[in-house]
Amino acid sequence: MTKKLYLETFGCQMNVLDSELVLGQLRAQGYESVEEREEADVVIYNTCSVREHAEQKVWSRLGEMRDWKKTRPGTVIGVIGCMAERDGKDIFRKFPHVDLLCGPGELDKLAGMVHNLVVTGTEARRHEGTKGRQVALMGANMRRSSTLAAAEDHLELLDLSRSISAEDNLAQAYVRITRGCNKFCTYCVVPYTRGPEVHRPPQNIIDEVKRLSDAGALEVTLLGQTINHYAFKHGDGRVTTFAELLYQIHEAVPGLPRLRFVTSFPRDFTNEALMVMRDCQRICRYLHVPAQSGSDRILKAMNRGYTAQEYYDFVGRAREYMPDVSIASDFIVGFPTETQDDFDQTAEMVRRCRFKNSFIFKYSPRPGTVAIERFEDDVPEETKRRWNNELLAVQQEACVRNNREMVGKVVEVMIEGETKLVSKKAYPASAGGVELGWEKRGGENGSDGASPATVVTQLIGRTRGDQVVAIDAPMGMRGRIVDVEITEAKNLTLFGKLVMSAVAG
Ligand code: 5AD
Ligand code: SF4
Repeated sequence: MTKKLYLETFGCQMNVLDSELVLGQLRAQGYESVEEREEADVVIYNTCSVREHAEQKVWSRLGEMRDWKKTRPGTVIGVIGCMAERDGKDIFRKFPHVDLLCGPGELDKLAGMVHNLVVTGTEARRHEGTKGRQVALMGANMRRSSTLAAAEDHLELLDLSRSISAEDNLAQAYVRITRGCNKFCTYCVVPYTRGPEVHRPPQNIIDEVKRLSDAGALEVTLLGQTINHYAFKHGDGRVTTFAELLYQIHEAVPGLPRLRFVTSFPRDFTNEALMVMRDCQRICRYLHVPAQSGSDRILKAMNRGYTAQEYYDFVGRAREYMPDVSIASDFIVGFPTETQDDFDQTAEMVRRCRFKNSFIFKYSPRPGTVAIERFEDDVPEETKRRWNNELLAVQQEACVRNNREMVGKVVEVMIEGETKLVSKKAYPASAGGVELGWEKRGGENGSDGASPATVVTQLIGRTRGDQVVAIDAPMGMRGRIVDVEITEAKNLTLFGKLVMSAVAG
């Protein structure tokens, strides 16, 4: 009988990709994914440890599963990803009903582990009650001290195993180019959970992008924690840099309309990489380059390796090459010892840089990091909250200004789905401004038979610069790239109307 799998993903794009790859492997073994946890034979949580809040959500999911497991002891419960790596033993101790732990660096073995538990473990668990055999595979830190080549080999298998088919109808796809991180920012768990930086061979990346494009992908986003630090050393000593990789992908996959990448590290951006972005038309002019703080003192305490001035210089350089580049950033507020003066410098940075978007986080002390050992979490929660809101307000001003400048322009938009922000004004004819209206063509009642009625709704899409646009357009356009005239700008959303189809989806 086909086994049913429920997989829930928390955290970053890297986790989303890991889940997709794991799902592909389990599907190949005959598992079928289900939307409801209650229907599943195997329940897996792919977890994130970056902030405590992300972990709390998983703790509560696991708590809910405790009683459930008592009534269905045959169910396999797995925790994978960063939490499995970081606090594996704690999870087994607090939640004895969890059967399986697998860190992000061992996911190539997950399908085999799950299958073993399902096939051999079900009976055993029935006899033993809720506490059965628990299996765990972690090892990011071990990989740091063992040979990278070995780690590289087995992890590469996971990405290489990707099953890509046109039926999946994936307009957007992620492709990993680098795993892990070597930066050791003092607040961050990633170097501990995902292990050392490992770069994938360029040809494997190019082949994967090509296969996705052949299967119908219109947008590929390359992933890495510090993606622009990519440098692959070939056997003969030659090095493929990030700029070269970008260029090679762009040239090797001419049928791909959009190529993106996240996340960049400010200090590692070469002029060559910026030039490639400037010169290659299908590379989106969008950069996500977290600054984290505008204060040199805090940047130093965070071990970021650059000053505020160096960040400003980078932004200036990027805009010199591409005046229309869209830049997004991340900031942490309430880092230990942060003063009002430090925060003011961060607010000044958000004001001056006019980011497309800023992701703002309140500092969350993470076990195992340098910051939790070195500093007391001394900024009161109330101050963190206030700074968070103030910074959001500064960013919002920039969004309003950026968006206003877009009105009247024609931009290329990729349709991603339906918007929840349905504007009544957009459909004056539809009864009470309901979401769907029937636009009648031909006969009075739409009953002429020859001309079918067209369902219209408001769709949501993204520009090449990653700005969100709500559009009046017919249904069935999801995954297509179209030209849109921006007609109106509201705080965070642009509204537009369809001009013409630019690329058939
Ligand atoms: N506390 C708060 N925010 C954090 N981030 C990473 N670690 C922490 C932490 N301990 C934020 C950074 C990073 C983003 C992914 O999450 O801004 O860029
Ligand atoms: Fe974490 Fe810093 Fe690496 Fe980003 S660069 S993943 S914040 S350690």
